[in-house]
Amino acid sequence: METIDKLTKRKDSTIEVSSTSKESAQKSIRKRGVEVPSARKLVLRDIGYPFRAKGDPKPMGLEIDSLELFADYAREQWMGTYVQQGTYLFDRYIMPDYAFQVLEVEPEESVVSKKTEILLLSPSGATSDVKARPVTFEEVIGHEPVKQKCKIILEYLRHPSKFGEWAPRAVLFHGLPGTGKTMTAQALANEADARIFLVKASDLIGVHVGDGGRRISALFEDARKSSPSIIFIDELDAIGLARSFQSIRGDVSEVVTALLGELDSTTEESGVVVIGATNALPLIDSAIKNRFDTVFEFSLPTLEERHSILKLYAGRLPINLEADLYEIARKTEGLSGRDLRDRILKESLHIAITEGSATITSEIIHGVLDKLQSKDRPIYTI
Ligand SMILES: Nc1ncnc2c1ncn2[C@@H]1O[C@H](COP(=O)(O)OP(=O)(O)OP(=O)(O)O)[C@@H](O)[C@H]1O
Ligand SMILES: [Mg+2]
Repeated sequence: METIDKLTKRKDSTIEVSSTSKESAQKSIRKRGVEVPSARKLVLRDIGYPFRAKGDPKPMGLEIDSLELFADYAREQWMGTYVQQGTYLFDRYIMPDYAFQVLEVEPEESVVSKKTEILLLSPSGATSDVKARPVTFEEVIGHEPVKQKCKIILEYLRHPSKFGEWAPRAVLFHGLPGTGKTMTAQALANEADARIFLVKASDLIGVHVGDGGRRISALFEDARKSSPSIIFIDELDAIGLARSFQSIRGDVSEVVTALLGELDSTTEESGVVVIGATNALPLIDSAIKNRFDTVFEFSLPTLEERHSILKLYAGRLPINLEADLYEIARKTEGLSGRDLRDRILKESLHIAITEGSATITSEIIHGVLDKLQSKDRPIYTI
């Protein structure tokens, strides 16, 4: 009853968010003098309320029981609203003034219609239904054996029925941080034109009993619905903990049980592949490890690979880099691809910008290298 009351009040209220946004939408349509197309696809992010009283708890995000129902509800209330990337949309009925932000919209500037496909990205990332960044296998430097084996998964995602009982269902990516695990999964999804669900294992552990299990089944259900798809579970060690540790946290074992159940019931022709990623293979429970067909090792780049990675990213810098990349590669043994990009190139770029330099000089880059080496390596004085 209370909800209905609230709902009616809101509808008649003078603070009608939608009508203002509709008006502005129409204004912009007229101003441009062109017809704004209907949105084909809209990806929203759960934001929350614009403000709250000091000391009030922050809402923990939304719990969506049916994404389909949510999409229907969203279409209905925002029909006719002009949207572009970054636009905020406010709920009017269930949680008045709760905000969502437009992360992605196709075409770029359009109007919500009854045909718009609406997807929601939750803030916890628990069921992140994200379109893969356009990364290709070519950009993944090195990891040749991994890329070779990924071709099988690629073939399966393209033709799920071809494999029958021999379908690859789950693989594990193991390796040091920044070596390209997430990137490879994104490249795979991109090349297979598959959807990728990126999840952090720790986000699957819920606050309440039963949350974790529910999240896992919702995730697999979504993935099956939008197959071909990849479920990428990052930091798998957070839930895949060996059983001796699980007894400490009941909620973890609940997630493990649900995950094992889903892995077992994923059928051969579902077109869903699970990729688990971890930096700590020995910590993973053997029951979980056994469900994965193969463990792919991601090692640190070799000298030649470091050179190629530096070349790849140096080519994308907005200003020129005047340095011998091979020499930098020689001086960066032990660094990952991410380190090379972020700790060397990005850092050098930022210094050049701060100093007002039009190029990244060899001096800047060597300064960064020296600082890095003195930070990482302990100095022993006798
Ligand atoms: N082999 C590589 N080739 C090209 N770029 C790389 C490579 N390895 C890492 N990078 C760069 O580093 C970034 C981070 O890599 P990525 O996120 O895939 O690492 P990760 O193995 O998933 O790390 P973590 O274990 O911390 O999640 C990539 O987006 C890419 O820009
Ligand atoms: Mg990663």
